[in-house]
Amino acid sequence: MLLNIFSAVLALSSTSFALPARDAPLKSSVREELAGPPAGWVKYESVKVNKETSTMSLMVHLVNQDMDKFHHLAMNIATPGHELYGSHLSQEVIDSMIAPKDESRELVMKWLNSEGLGENASLSSRADSIIVQASVSQIEKLLNAEYAPFVRNGSKEMVLRTLKYSLPDVLQGHVDMVQPTTFFGMKAMRSTVSNQRYFDNSILETQTESAVSGCSGTTTTPKCLSNLYSFTAAKSYSNGLLGVAGFLEQWPIFSDLTTFMKTYQTENNAAQTFTCTLVNGGTCPQAASGAGTEANLDVQYARAISESIPNVFYSVGGSPPWLGSGTNTNEPYLDFLNYLLGLNASALPNTLSISYGDDEATVPLSYATTVCNLFSQLGARGVSVLVASGDSGVGDTCTVSGKKQFTTSFPAGCPWVTTVGGTNGISPEAAWSSSGGGFSEVFGRPSYQNATVNNWLTTDKTHTAVAQYFNYSGRAYPDVAAQSTNFIIVAGGQSYIVDGTSCAAPTFASIIQLLNSDRLLAGKAPLGFLNPWLYSKATSGLTDITSGKNTGCSGSISSAGFSAVAGWDPATGLGTPNYAKLLKISQAT
Ligand SMILES: *[C@@H]1O[C@H](CO)[C@@H](O)[C@H](O)[C@H]1NC(C)=O
Ligand SMILES: *[C@@H]1O[C@H](CO)[C@@H](O)[C@H](O)[C@H]1NC(C)=O
Ligand SMILES: *[C@@H]1O[C@H](CO)[C@@H](O)[C@H](O)[C@H]1NC(C)=O
Ligand SMILES: *[C@@H]1O[C@H](CO)[C@@H](O)[C@H](O)[C@H]1NC(C)=O
Ligand SMILES: *[C@@H]1O[C@H](CO)[C@@H](O)[C@H](O)[C@H]1NC(C)=O
Repeated sequence: MLLNIFSAVLALSSTSFALPARDAPLKSSVREELAGPPAGWVKYESVKVNKETSTMSLMVHLVNQDMDKFHHLAMNIATPGHELYGSHLSQEVIDSMIAPKDESRELVMKWLNSEGLGENASLSSRADSIIVQASVSQIEKLLNAEYAPFVRNGSKEMVLRTLKYSLPDVLQGHVDMVQPTTFFGMKAMRSTVSNQRYFDNSILETQTESAVSGCSGTTTTPKCLSNLYSFTAAKSYSNGLLGVAGFLEQWPIFSDLTTFMKTYQTENNAAQTFTCTLVNGGTCPQAASGAGTEANLDVQYARAISESIPNVFYSVGGSPPWLGSGTNTNEPYLDFLNYLLGLNASALPNTLSISYGDDEATVPLSYATTVCNLFSQLGARGVSVLVASGDSGVGDTCTVSGKKQFTTSFPAGCPWVTTVGGTNGISPEAAWSSSGGGFSEVFGRPSYQNATVNNWLTTDKTHTAVAQYFNYSGRAYPDVAAQSTNFIIVAGGQSYIVDGTSCAAPTFASIIQLLNSDRLLAGKAPLGFLNPWLYSKATSGLTDITSGKNTGCSGSISSAGFSAVAGWDPATGLGTPNYAKLLKISQAT
């Protein structure tokens, strides 16, 4: 298989150089067009980009063959009881299954040659994309596009994007995504509803304990979570690898982790460190002023819960070409997933926590599909991917293209990730009002949740009044949930309290890593893609959340939201983890 790819590379370079420098221009049509930038993004008028000297690297993704067949196999590998359960694949096997046609590569190279960019093109390491390294003005001409700088209102996130681009008609069926073009980016899933606030440790002494030891009901600490989710007696594993995704120049600070562990994790806190792996020009500076709330939150709870299991924080770089240099594509999400798939089995994490996402409606379908397909490959490689469900309940404004509807989140709505919603309160533990939940508008309902969601649709009466605001045939989420409010963290030496499903994702992911480390120690395969297991065998290891509801829509839709009810629901999924029970189930799977 390796040989095939290699010969394809050789074939590609020889054809490309053999072609005449200029062919007749190919007839092109608009491939993607946005009416305006996604909500929250504005043109960054004050910056002038020199399009002749600024370079960018464009990813032209080729259509994979047999993706449906691969998905069928990936689902079998993740389905307990199937003969292939746990038979995770190497990337070489996956790549040989889904390799694009040679013809697709050749057509793209012919096009680039005709535009005089043949020498600026190279094949991606996984041989499924052509990367074009050229000046912004050359790319504009190539795609008949007009790039402009944009900034996410109220943040420092900047990108260079176009609202429209064209491709030659002959590439229809051969190229399915070109980026960076119309995809703007993901944001950290921390609540914008309740901002982070200072925390004074003396408050801890005055707090009365609730029904659960270590939990006050007003602050969430590792000790509280360990009692609530039954992992106080977890063995101290030191094998396996837990990964945390980091973007947007948000960095975890080692000294903050030490302070956090000494103050809030006073038992079993021997391991107080993590590795920072730099991806695509990412960095891990340690200046206290650079402390990222998201990064510190993720790393501090991952470390506290996974105890001595190695943790890796992936600091993914990517800045716009007028700031960055070298081969920055400024499309960090794709770069990150391709980086992971390029790792060998021993370097891959067993579990990955991702607390970034954005409104599904702002993500071009071609991009969402490509990224979701990359997640399916990670699952088949044996990685359990946990994603925050979002912090806007069923949406902020609930208007999409002038139509009133609940808004959904990406990658939460991708059927190949495990989406973690939010709860708050201890007795009872209830749905958090901002817990992202709903039905994807672009991904259909996967078989593993079909019966469970159908059961909710037919028996739940609480959603009847809002049934016209969501597409019930879509992939439903969240799958599971965990605490999402009042997490104490340390950033820049100071304690804060934060909210968001960003709290839930690393919490749930760390508990899954405890299970994965246990399985590896017993000589078993890791759990890999979790959902078929969660919706079948593992349901009884989750605590069903039956009170509270998620809300949203700022009054534009009355009674907007979904109630937490007995069984699965689009506020808290199947429920919150009970480690002791999940461990027994995992050991018997
Ligand atoms: C494109 O290729 C030409 C020829 O090899 C080279 O001179 C030029 O620097 C390349 N442009 C970029 C942006 O890499
Ligand atoms: C940007 O944010 C400011 C302050 O929050 C707000 O007043 C303004 O309307 C926003 N602009 C856009 C285009 O969203
Ligand atoms: C796997 O990758 C790691 C990190 O790049 C490397 O150190 C190790 O030697 C590789 N193992 C194998 C078996 O190739
Ligand atoms: C509903 O979702 C399905 C599958 O995701 C999709 O095929 C269909 O077009 C959607 N319908 C509407 C009205 O959005
Ligand atoms: C999902 O459930 C419905 C109703 O029970 C059934 O008609 C349909 O075939 C199922 N689809 C899948 C993919 O299992």
